[in-house]
Amino acid sequence: MAKREILKYPHKLLKKASIPVAEINGDIQTLIDDMFDTLNHDVIGVGLAAPQIGINSRVIVIDGKVVTKTDSEIAVINPVIVYSEGEMESYEGCLSIPEFFSTINRFARIFVKGLDRFGKEIEFEALGHLCRVFQHEIDHLDGILFVDRLADGQLKIFKKTYRKKR
Ligand code: NI
Repeated sequence: MAKREILKYPHKLLKKASIPVAEINGDIQTLIDDMFDTLNHDVIGVGLAAPQIGINSRVIVIDGKVVTKTDSEIAVINPVIVYSEGEMESYEGCLSIPEFFSTINRFARIFVKGLDRFGKEIEFEALGHLCRVFQHEIDHLDGILFVDRLADGQLKIFKKTYRKKR
């Protein structure tokens, strides 16, 4: 197990769509362990997607302690949003885009299907914070960052302020 480096915007790999996991083997177990280590190392992060550590595989992890009462570690392989409804404002940040936070629109309720780390089919109904984190992390698997969902005015502010900071 090891903490890995988190790629930062505008790294090219963050814009690349990730490939579905075909076989759940030791490499995937190591990847998931490393992702949790990386996430737990950072007190701000509640979720992480594999491309953020340079692996373009469809794997996400979520620190469930923060977003649900029951699950402590949520790892989903090949997650898919199978149902969505409603809309909510979502205030977000991203470990790959330090020190920038903004509000975007997200679905208010979703159902997510995928596989757990042992290959068992799992399903989540997500509302509120968990709903927001799932959408954010699954977006990463499609090469989409939350700043790609900013309204034009906010995007301008992001580009201005972020360029200044870096
Ligand atoms: Ni992110």
